[in-house]
Amino acid sequence: MSNEIRIGIIGCGWATENLHVPALRRVGCYRIVAVADTNRQRSESFAGRTGIAQWFNEPSQLIEHPDVEAVAVCVPPDHHVSLAIDALAVGKHVFIEKPMALTMEQADRLVAVAKLSRQKVLVGFNLRWHRLVQECRRMVNANAIGPLSAMRTTFTNPLLHKPTSPAWRKDRACGGGVIYDLAVHHFDLWRFLLCSEVQELSAWCRSDDWHDEAAVISARMANGILVSSVFAHGTVDDHQLELYGSKGKLQVSLYRHDGLQFFRHGENRLTTTFHRLAGMTRTLPAAIAALKNGGEIFSSYDAQWKHFYDCVRTGARIDCTVEDGLRATELSAAAVESAQMKRSINMNLSSVGRSYD
Ligand SMILES: NC(=O)c1ccc[n+]([C@@H]2O[C@H](COP(=O)([O-])OP(=O)(O)OC[C@H]3O[C@@H](n4cnc5c(N)ncnc54)[C@H](O)[C@@H]3O)[C@@H](O)[C@H]2O)c1
Repeated sequence: MSNEIRIGIIGCGWATENLHVPALRRVGCYRIVAVADTNRQRSESFAGRTGIAQWFNEPSQLIEHPDVEAVAVCVPPDHHVSLAIDALAVGKHVFIEKPMALTMEQADRLVAVAKLSRQKVLVGFNLRWHRLVQECRRMVNANAIGPLSAMRTTFTNPLLHKPTSPAWRKDRACGGGVIYDLAVHHFDLWRFLLCSEVQELSAWCRSDDWHDEAAVISARMANGILVSSVFAHGTVDDHQLELYGSKGKLQVSLYRHDGLQFFRHGENRLTTTFHRLAGMTRTLPAAIAALKNGGEIFSSYDAQWKHFYDCVRTGARIDCTVEDGLRATELSAAAVESAQMKRSINMNLSSVGRSYD
């Protein structure tokens, strides 16, 4: 494709290898011109294995390279903001992995720089582009579940059991632990799906061998909806959302192609099963397309990269902005504070815009 975006990726770790390079290649409107990693051997061997022509061990060499027009920041979270700012400073578009920042000082700095820049910055909350999350959002906006009273979510994975887990994943100051790794995705989803900001938040955490190995976080949204979420490393892969409204319960299982199920208030089991089968039939073509990519989750990265392309090439409105990244950072910091201080945190909403619209 002649109008492809020439992208350089900083960080040659798990996410780049398993998520971004495969998605960028499937999407087909990008040319990966270079990679960089402070681990020189990793950068060189990754470029060789994946057929990427240029590799660097100094991120600034990639950022300043004239062939690179967009930079993907896929390094441990404590380096996200400084690299994104360096890339914007030399006129490059930026994709930045989650969590966008670890502190409000970092988040404020990036928001200020992005505001003054003509370049696009997309924050990688890929769940916004998950097919079932999008369907769930359509149903919420169409009032199909009725006015919502509560939402319950779960996001867990086996990370703690992997001997290959890098050291940063154990250290909250580097972005490790479930709050900055898993909960931050759901903080964004709470806002995205419930179209409201968090008013008050309480968190309980377990930190036995690592920081924040598990957490239970509850919140009251400004529109009154109550939320409760469970996050854990070191167990099975599980990813669920449940939304409770006056018309019924919507259950979304994010790792299943047929993971969207609506339990209508007052409906008998037979009818629920019929609706489920009808829904599966309707969504089968999309599910088959997603299966070819490895499942629904993997397709969300394709959709995210297609969106970044549209933002850069056609001026489409950015669907996940640095302001969204900042809100998620604020909630992560509040969760840490709540767990440490053993009290709930009231969020200051006076300066918050409605960026989830
Ligand atoms: N959106 C998602 O679903 C998702 C999934 C996994 C990881 N992530 C995010 O992606 C990022 C990377 O995660 P990962 O699992 O690939 O980590 P990783 O530890 O596997 O890889 C990180 C790589 O970055 C390199 N690196 C560290 N500091 C650097 C610097 N300053 N400049 C250049 N290279 C540097 C390391 O040498 C390593 O190769 C993290 O922010 C993580 O939160 C997102």
